[in-house]
Amino acid sequence: MNSKKKSVILRLEAALSFANTFEKKLATIYHIVASLMEHIFTQKDEKLPKDTLHACVVQIIGMMRISNSVMHPLLRIMEKEYTTHHHSVNVAFMASLLGNAMHYTHEQLVDLTYAALLHDIGKIRVENSILEKPGSLSHEEFESIKHHTKDSFSILEQNGITNSSILNAVLLHHEKLDGSGYPKGLLKNEIPPFAQMIGVCDIFDALTTKRTFRNSYTSYEALMIIKHEMSHQLDFHLVDILIRMLHE
Ligand SMILES: [Fe+2]
Ligand SMILES: [Fe+2]
Repeated sequence: MNSKKKSVILRLEAALSFANTFEKKLATIYHIVASLMEHIFTQKDEKLPKDTLHACVVQIIGMMRISNSVMHPLLRIMEKEYTTHHHSVNVAFMASLLGNAMHYTHEQLVDLTYAALLHDIGKIRVENSILEKPGSLSHEEFESIKHHTKDSFSILEQNGITNSSILNAVLLHHEKLDGSGYPKGLLKNEIPPFAQMIGVCDIFDALTTKRTFRNSYTSYEALMIIKHEMSHQLDFHLVDILIRMLHE
């Protein structure tokens, strides 16, 4: 293990030993994972620190299991200014929370959270001028952004990841139940559960973070928009689990 990877894990362990409340521990893990993801997205280095990412995923899952009411502390900590690295971390924490509420096994949670953390990694191949463009995108620019799902798949494959649950989750996280998604335009049961869960968390995070073209919605508003305006595109059951957690 090289010194950079080692330093993230050591920093995580040292910081956790000083965090004496659940919320401080949650914030510590959140910020360290966010700084790792910021480094990955800034460097655009396609060689991923797999062991360090795995260690971060295990920490995230551990936090989701400590308490039954993680949703509110998590929402207080999650960054609301949109950046791709914060978005990746937000989606990973939310997907882990959702998987935990669905009583997934530890192995399933690892795969789900790992896929959620890296679902948009393909965006390192998209030009920053397109990713950060404040106005509307041209057809070509939008196509270039849409390509990130295939690139996420290929970057993970390139890093020796062969687990089909993880690979399909990143490839298919923009598919919609009514066939309007991409890259394949799959329908309902054709979309694997991990991809559907990451897709719901992805849209929830996109709505609850501030963008250049609009302010953020509250968590409740976001879930109501998803439930009432996207019910034909996303699994109702998953949205209901998030709504229930918001009421706990
Ligand atoms: Fe995406
Ligand atoms: Fe995303």
